[in-house]
Amino acid sequence: MSKRCKCCTGVLPGFCGFRGFLSAWSASLAFSVLPRTCLRDVRDVREIRASRGSSFSVLRRCVDRVDRVDRAAFDRSEQLCAVKVPEDGAYRLRQHPEVLPFCLGWAKKRAQKRAKKRAQKRDPSSAGAADAVAKAANAVNQVNVVNVVNVVNVVNVVNVVNVVTEEGGAEPGSSLLLLAPGVTPQSLGAEAHNAIEAFQGSFTTYELELGYANFNYKEALTLLLPADVTVPMGYEVLGHIAHFNLLQEHWPHRHLIGQVLMDKSKNVRTVVAKRGTVSHQYRTFDMEVIAGEADTEVELKEFGLKLKFDFRKVYWNSRLASERGRLSGKCGEGEVFVDLAAGVGALALLCARRGCHVVANDLNPAAAAAAKENARRNRLKMEVLQMDARPLLRSALHGSWGDLGLGFPKVSITRLAFNLPELALEMLCGELRPLRNCMVDASNASKVGLPKFCVYCYTFDYSEEHVHDRLLQLLGFVPEATKIRKVRLVAPSKMMYCVEFAYLWESEKCAGHGILFSAVQVGSVESTRVALAVAKIQGHALITAPPVAGAFLGQINLKPFVQFVHFVPIATLHALIVHSELFVLLFYAWKSSRKSLDFLRVVVRVWILLGLIAWFCCLVVMLLVGTLAWEMEHTVIGNVSMIEEYVVEKAEMRRRRAGERKFVYPYDLGRKENFAALLGSSLSWLVPGLATPGDPVWPMVRPGSTHFDISTEQIAQKTEKLQRSMVMPVREHFTGEGVEA
Ligand SMILES: C[S@@+](CC[C@H](N)C(=O)[O-])C[C@H]1O[C@@H](n2cnc3c(N)ncnc32)[C@H](O)[C@@H]1O
Repeated sequence: MSKRCKCCTGVLPGFCGFRGFLSAWSASLAFSVLPRTCLRDVRDVREIRASRGSSFSVLRRCVDRVDRVDRAAFDRSEQLCAVKVPEDGAYRLRQHPEVLPFCLGWAKKRAQKRAKKRAQKRDPSSAGAADAVAKAANAVNQVNVVNVVNVVNVVNVVNVVNVVTEEGGAEPGSSLLLLAPGVTPQSLGAEAHNAIEAFQGSFTTYELELGYANFNYKEALTLLLPADVTVPMGYEVLGHIAHFNLLQEHWPHRHLIGQVLMDKSKNVRTVVAKRGTVSHQYRTFDMEVIAGEADTEVELKEFGLKLKFDFRKVYWNSRLASERGRLSGKCGEGEVFVDLAAGVGALALLCARRGCHVVANDLNPAAAAAAKENARRNRLKMEVLQMDARPLLRSALHGSWGDLGLGFPKVSITRLAFNLPELALEMLCGELRPLRNCMVDASNASKVGLPKFCVYCYTFDYSEEHVHDRLLQLLGFVPEATKIRKVRLVAPSKMMYCVEFAYLWESEKCAGHGILFSAVQVGSVESTRVALAVAKIQGHALITAPPVAGAFLGQINLKPFVQFVHFVPIATLHALIVHSELFVLLFYAWKSSRKSLDFLRVVVRVWILLGLIAWFCCLVVMLLVGTLAWEMEHTVIGNVSMIEEYVVEKAEMRRRRAGERKFVYPYDLGRKENFAALLGSSLSWLVPGLATPGDPVWPMVRPGSTHFDISTEQIAQKTEKLQRSMVMPVREHFTGEGVEA
């Protein structure tokens, strides 16, 4: 009796329809997920070898998964022809130009590389590079270069020495020079034979054991990847990380590629591949760790600078190293250099090392933090900011560093770098365009002495002409000495350019724009006074003065100002009292002269009228300046200006929203201490001519606070504001038509 299926009641005897459906479905699923590449991998390796023309007949037994290297597949032995020479003669034979001139070529290259590295370490500028090239050429001349025709004569395999000593052989103690695969006594020229004879050499065979270790990255992958897949060579190594930008065809083999690269590179511990494109505002990208540890915290050296950053969180490109070296080489000691998009601060630190005053900015908090840490690691001084480039650019152009809370001398910038190729040219020209009337071409010799300002702005484009046209359109003119330089090819039709121009500010015309000139020398008495305003005090003066005047007023002038606002009401009160007494006297004079002296009566009446007006003016002045005096007392007792109060108020709101700890206002030391620090501990503050006590540049702060707490908080507030902002669509363009003049 045929078995009946219990689940389908046995429509077909011996075969359950439901079970059949299930097995067919799972089989099709298995086939669809089976990696196609895996199937390709089991092709006969001899076929691959034939297509590549490999010199070694490697027999790959099986590479069962695309992401695993079967090292045993590389193991084999190769029969080589060798020259046996008594004692260590093989070493000397190897030097013979007819046998192995290639080692001289190798020595030449190594000497070149070393000389270049040494010279560049000393001076990363373009002058340094030129020096390096000259030194390298010299090094080449020092090596006795002979013809390099017979390179192929001697075995040239990774980790294989081409001279071995024969220990347990027929003639122990003699040395063997291993010839390349395929080289036989017949294939060697007569001169090589003569040389071998001169060394009393004879031909023999040698069994060379080979394994995975004897193949370099390219050779190993050529043998492992399918024949129609190229070996990816364009990777970048930064610290212990190798970074690939893989093509579509490589993606299924990414783990294999990563593994081989890691095996073949001494310092690589992590291999990552870019996923998608660089589209984030911070120029970072999504990456996948394709081999090794998932550790993206990089430590590397560039021109002797120690740099550390998280590659996943910040932008980094080692290919821009020479550009950074070139740019920093232009910076001289004492110059003021601003990098608006500094990344982890490599360029800014190079400039700081050359003695420049440097401001490094980046919108990305991780990049700004890394720049700060890198400055600390290299023991270099630079101001690090984390803000949008546009307001910083504006402050830099107008010299209003004080608004940013920088502990930085108030001087004009001399150099400005802006490496944000997608936006930089548009942003920079947008800010420079209104100032174009006061820009004088730097090549104009008659204007020497005016403050100079050099711009290095990076942009993407497809041709120099197009960059020129854009500059014309954006700026309204093209500066005479503009250089448009190719930096590197980013994509087949996308080039990175550096737009360079230098300008002089024509002071009289620029005054209306509030541009500050480098008349103030860094480190002079003037700049020290100004620096104090930047550190804190600008706020106090802001109560009464506009920002620029406020920045110059500073704490030095605080005491006279407080005295002024107190003495004026006291003096006017005194005037009021005196006037009031005068009124009484005049009243009696008028009364007594009523009947007889008419002329006197008129004079007295006019006098009373004028006196009343003066009295009223005194009253107004007393009330107004008295209110100011009261406000100043409040400022002094709390050591807080109106602006700072406003910042603190916003800080409290922001921190409450963000769940951060309460903001501590750093300058409030307590009522008595504040008063003593700003005006003096006794009534001496009322004595005109006495200087303001305390340290005006770096006033005391509460324990646990720093001078930059307010600035940092302001930056956080501005960043939050920026995050909350949104782009609104244009509803309608306003043409201006129909509006009456
Ligand atoms: C192309 S990278 C240049 C990095 C650096 N100059 C270097 O050579 O390594 C651009 C940098 O600009 C920063 N950035 C993007 N938008 C910005 C903005 N609006 N203001 C300031 N920095 C910005 C990014 O975080 C990124 O680090």
